[in-house]
Amino acid sequence: MLTLSGVSKSYGKRAILTDISHNFQSGLNLLVGPSGAGKSTLLRLCSTVEKPSSGKLFWNDKPYSSVRKKLRFELGYAPQIVDLPQDVTGIEFLAHIAALKGLGKGSITQANEILEQLGLGPDAKQRIVGWSGGMRRRLVLAQALLGSPKLLALDEPTAELDRETAKRVSDLISHASKSATVILTTHLSEHFEAQGAAILRVADGVLTPS
Ligand SMILES: Nc1ncnc2c1ncn2[C@@H]1O[C@H](COP(=O)(O)OP(=O)(O)OP(=O)(O)O)[C@@H](O)[C@H]1O
Ligand SMILES: [Mg+2]
Repeated sequence: MLTLSGVSKSYGKRAILTDISHNFQSGLNLLVGPSGAGKSTLLRLCSTVEKPSSGKLFWNDKPYSSVRKKLRFELGYAPQIVDLPQDVTGIEFLAHIAALKGLGKGSITQANEILEQLGLGPDAKQRIVGWSGGMRRRLVLAQALLGSPKLLALDEPTAELDRETAKRVSDLISHASKSATVILTTHLSEHFEAQGAAILRVADGVLTPS
């Protein structure tokens, strides 16, 4: 369980998130809201990439300040925008991420399985420079899923995907959410709603369950 207690985030004098308190339960948690509302900002806070301006986050009741380093190895974060390295292959990229996460030998097997599940199996040994936007998007999701994290923060994992591929990807995320706390943003909200996701609206700096 991820807990936010009085979390605020400002950039300079501009307040983006104001005094948010919420428990994100295990399973699917869907962030919706207008562009610029602060969804990605909230995901960056949850994934330790940024710190709140005030307030606290807790992972299983332990404050981020005491578990931040450990949590970084255990969570999966798929940012909305990523600059992937161009000169390595998909599987080489995942092997690199697995090493950074401190995952063991089984991680390469898992990486190949995830690539297969995401429909990237045939391209795994191709250099990323030749990959399409949708393929790169799925690779960003793949690195987040490596190591089967208990906390997944996924920013627009179904963007740039055709309907069929997006369905395949969202099914995989729904499956992962059986054993994890997943917080995601997506324009494919109907699918996740049908899967019983908690819907949370981010607007005017606050988070409202709906
Ligand atoms: N590093 C930063 N410095 C200054 N302002 C920022 C920074 N990051 C985000 N912002 C501002 O914070 C606000 C929220 O941005 P954020 O990317 O979190 O919105 P979002 O809800 O994810 O939008 P979208 O649906 O378009 O992805 C925006 O006004 C943005 O300009
Ligand atoms: Mg965003």
